Amino acid sequence: MQKSLEIDPDYYDLGRDDYVDTDFASETTSLASFVYKGVFENGRRCPSDEQQFESLEAGHLLCILLDANTPNPLFHAPVKNLKQILDIGTGRGNWAIDVADMFPEATVRGVDLFPPPGEWLPPNCIMEVDDVLQEWTWRQTFDLIHMRQLIGAFTPEEWDGLFSQCYKNLNPGGWIEQIEGDPRVNCSDSSMSTDSSVVKFTEAVFRAGKEWNHPIDTLDTMRAAMEKAGFVDIHEKEYKWPVGPWARDPTLKEAGRLHYHQWMAGMEGWGMYLLTKFGVPTPWTKEEVHVLLARVRKELQNPHVHMWQYARRVWGRKPTEEEARIKSEDAATDTGM
Ligand SMILES: C[S@@+](CC[C@H](N)C(=O)[O-])C[C@H]1O[C@@H](n2cnc3c(N)ncnc32)[C@H](O)[C@@H]1O
Repeated sequence: MQKSLEIDPDYYDLGRDDYVDTDFASETTSLASFVYKGVFENGRRCPSDEQQFESLEAGHLLCILLDANTPNPLFHAPVKNLKQILDIGTGRGNWAIDVADMFPEATVRGVDLFPPPGEWLPPNCIMEVDDVLQEWTWRQTFDLIHMRQLIGAFTPEEWDGLFSQCYKNLNPGGWIEQIEGDPRVNCSDSSMSTDSSVVKFTEAVFRAGKEWNHPIDTLDTMRAAMEKAGFVDIHEKEYKWPVGPWARDPTLKEAGRLHYHQWMAGMEGWGMYLLTKFGVPTPWTKEEVHVLLARVRKELQNPHVHMWQYARRVWGRKPTEEEARIKSEDAATDTGM
């Protein structure tokens, strides 16, 4: 279980009124100075943009950091005989690359609609450009399939189809694992204004996702979707991601720093397409989105606001051959066959 999110009282003795002039924020000036380049194609996020990659990198480090005290911070599924691994929607490929380094005997495939930046890859890591909603053409089956931060990528029907493909393409006894963040923000004290721009932004994005039929509450639906596809032995772990380094605990403080980076570099990509195409009640103009984002940025830079977000990791197993046999025998008995 994650440590409690206590506020660091010493933080304010330093007389900080926003994160902009601090050492911490100077690390983010490169993020803030990026100009958004328009990163969407065919209604899906194109991660070939440097700013999006920065956000993904911060998200990757955040996930690892909050599990740094576990035997394997990259995934929790207790996979036996790990040989073939697939990372769906791999983005920048951070997870696939780290897993390939950690398990040199395994082959790790990262698949995405868009190619990752041309960086050095471990010899056992393969990056492929493909649409996972199409019929899969890999010859081998997998021992582990991983997904992370794919909220808003698919309709509920597409999610069902994707989980079925995962099930079909896993070896008996193989595992699926997914980690997603909640787009909605929380605050455990009164430090967040009732008129919060961050809340306005996240609620608007949430409604737009619904309007588009690409709901972004994936962290609440993924477990049931796994069960529906036939996965068993399902486990989950919940996290609280602080936004900004306001927490007392040093790990959570660092996590907050990373999540702040994730927000600063990512929010334009999260909101621009959804709000200008599916904003409710009518699509927003780009200028309207920019105005709200400027307010969001200012609020996030305020160290006196103690926001955090839920995230959840869920992992489940495809039944073994023995389990599948017993299940089909039971089903035959039930139907009298
Ligand atoms: C927010 S990024 C997450 C990247 C990565 N999983 C991580 O956590 O760093 C979502 C990724 O899913 C990819 N994606 C969306 N739809 C896809 C599809 N149908 N097939 C393959 N990749 C897809 C996007 O291109 C994008 O790179």
